[in-house]
Amino acid sequence: MAFDPLQERGIPLDEQLRDWRELNVTPIDPDRCDPYTRCRIITMNGIETEAILFSHHMARHCRDVEIKQRLARVRYIEAQQQKVVNWLLPGASSVLETTIAYEQVAVDLTAWVARMEPDQRLKQAYQFGVLEDFDHLYRYANLYEMIEHRRADKIVDQLTEVMPGRPTYLHHRDPMDNVREPYQRRVTEPLSRLHALTITAAEQQTMNFYMNVGPMYMEPIARQLYQEIGLIEEEHVTHYESLVEPGESWWERLLNHEYNECYLYYSFMETESDPKVKNIWELHLNMELEHLRLAAEMFRRFDGRDPDQVLAPALPPPVTFEPNKGYIRDLLATQMDLTTLGTGYVREAHERFEKMQQAVMGGERPPSERVIEENRAISGEEYRLQTEGRHPAGLRVNR
Ligand SMILES: [Fe+2]
Ligand SMILES: [Fe+2]
Ligand SMILES: [Fe+2]
Ligand SMILES: [Fe+2]
Repeated sequence: MAFDPLQERGIPLDEQLRDWRELNVTPIDPDRCDPYTRCRIITMNGIETEAILFSHHMARHCRDVEIKQRLARVRYIEAQQQKVVNWLLPGASSVLETTIAYEQVAVDLTAWVARMEPDQRLKQAYQFGVLEDFDHLYRYANLYEMIEHRRADKIVDQLTEVMPGRPTYLHHRDPMDNVREPYQRRVTEPLSRLHALTITAAEQQTMNFYMNVGPMYMEPIARQLYQEIGLIEEEHVTHYESLVEPGESWWERLLNHEYNECYLYYSFMETESDPKVKNIWELHLNMELEHLRLAAEMFRRFDGRDPDQVLAPALPPPVTFEPNKGYIRDLLATQMDLTTLGTGYVREAHERFEKMQQAVMGGERPPSERVIEENRAISGEEYRLQTEGRHPAGLRVNR
């Protein structure tokens, strides 16, 4: 029997509160952990952060004190979940090591979603974006070698390759060209909605992370690179969030958020290799089942429809972290030179794009290019991790 979150019983809300002892989880060991365990932690931190922020936005649109109180109660539990999840990350890892892991998430999660996405237009949006985060990984890996004298394979292992994608400086597009056409609620499969929510939440958390940690560095090149890529993550959030049709009611959006949390905790429970972390995914799934039940109750009452009308009849196959090397290489061979114009994609550098490039670059070499040059000067050669042979676009050196 397929797992149907709407039919399952979770933990009653009154019993979900945890004390300090329970919140104080033991972090993973950065030297021995499965890199994909760290990726799942980072993903769920993004999902919980979105759950909290979404609930705050909903509360601000709401006049009824009783509904605000209901939202506040569930939101406090989401905040506890976020603490537990993010505190699984070890203090022993540097900010840059965590950054590299964030980009590994962006690569392998987005590639998985692109592979599974049934809607061609949405698939294209993920394929377009993944080549950019793939390039960020390469830029940060070079910064890491340069300022921490370590190699990124310590973090990504051999699971994700590190080499140029669409060059980072070409990601600076006019904001107008970052807005896509939304998917249509009535014809799109429920899975597409979950995908869009997941990737938007992950990119939003990456944006928040870079905008806050960037100035913690002393090295000018590090400060500059975080600014540059931080601004691109803003573009990515705009790109992915525009895939979701805004016509959905607040109740429906809440329902989708809780359903997606169930889907991801279930997925990670099914695929987790670390037993202690797996226990947390299972516990949180059982909490989310109750959040979903409460959201479904409000949806019936205030939206006047049945949850079955908008949700999938059963959970789709589990979201899985696994290598996507061949898939990424195919995209590198065919989609490196794409940019956007209006809501679509083009291969030529058009006027608005050139204007934006001029305005942002100001005629200077961008940090994302300089970091490679500077690392080559210091380390003798730039950092790459090509486990499957030469670069598919024939790029032997940068640019
Ligand atoms: Fe949650
Ligand atoms: Fe990125
Ligand atoms: Fe991104
Ligand atoms: Fe939740």
